[in-house]
Amino acid sequence: SPKKISFPALRIEDWPRFAYRGAHLDCCRHFFTVEEIKSFIDLICMHKINNFHWHLTDDQGWRIEIKKYPRLTSFAAWRPFDKLNDWWVEGRTFCEQDDPRAVGGYYTQDDIREVVAYAAERHITIIPEIEMPGHSEEVLATYPELSCSGKPYVNADFCIGTEKTFEFLENVLFEVIDLFPSEYIHVGGDECPKKEWKRCAKCQALIAAQHLQADGRHTAEERLQSYFIKHAEQHLNQLGRQMIGWDETLEGGLAPNATVMSWRGEGGGMEAARQHHKVIMTPNTYLYFDYYQSADKAHEPEAIGGYLPLQHVYSYEPMPRQLKADEQPYIIGVQANLWTEYIPSFRQVEYMELPRMAALSEVQWCSPEQKDYNAFIKRLQQLVKVY
Ligand code: ACM
Repeated sequence: SPKKISFPALRIEDWPRFAYRGAHLDCCRHFFTVEEIKSFIDLICMHKINNFHWHLTDDQGWRIEIKKYPRLTSFAAWRPFDKLNDWWVEGRTFCEQDDPRAVGGYYTQDDIREVVAYAAERHITIIPEIEMPGHSEEVLATYPELSCSGKPYVNADFCIGTEKTFEFLENVLFEVIDLFPSEYIHVGGDECPKKEWKRCAKCQALIAAQHLQADGRHTAEERLQSYFIKHAEQHLNQLGRQMIGWDETLEGGLAPNATVMSWRGEGGGMEAARQHHKVIMTPNTYLYFDYYQSADKAHEPEAIGGYLPLQHVYSYEPMPRQLKADEQPYIIGVQANLWTEYIPSFRQVEYMELPRMAALSEVQWCSPEQKDYNAFIKRLQQLVKVY
């Protein structure tokens, strides 16, 4: 039983280096229950992290109930394969929720309200991510009229040349905003190949109508993505919210008020800061916790690749020296991401997060002169008992 302990009266003076301290969890590649999400929130609370970036939609499954589009959760949330790898090689299809093979799940709007309230009680803001225009195979399998081919299981990117795409995403964001009080809403924008747009008459017609021709810096298709993301931002701004996108949203021209999450290293973050846009540093070179923690990969659960041991995470300095004094304040925060292609259980989520999340927390809280890896390792012994 816990021993009673007492402290003399004391005063603690402390403040974090970065206002935005984030942790991300992908619930699309594998689904985690409401109870597991609450446990994740407990973990980030323990590490004094104040933002939970909840990745709710992606190629492998849609996880948030949207009343206007019920097929997103009666169909696009369920895969007929127990193992994600089998789904990959067997045709990447979805199935009905009541199919005996169905594996997956989703959060009802009541679940989301419960989780948002649970986080708020712990002073944590939840930032939902609704991916667009790429990473959307699951939506297009369900509503193929939103794709360039008009057929299911052909495209992964929304057709930008169809008005229905804008209508769909606006309607989805209306419901999302109603559920999440967060100032920031994340719209993805990463890894959209834009290939189909080149061949699609509707996308090309929009490029012509909006004069989005290629210039020296950007292709016409990059400018089309930018046109689309700017529209999403305008929609969010009109509803009183701010947009976050991955660093690909720089390509084709950044939306006027956008915040950028720099994941392909720090280059995108630096470029955005130079353009006087807010930046959250989340480089895969330091903060992708789906990468291996040990060089002894034979004794680790299979991971996506990479190698980010604890000390490397701890060593991360988020403020690039190349930025000028007036550009540095645009680096508002730091976040680690956990993509779950290779993470089928919450037990493994904890394994990948801990103790790297403790190192992340010090990167988020401490100024460089306060950081000391050996002292951190000593303190970690106490924290491990709490784990
Ligand atoms: C990402 O890792 N595709 C943001």
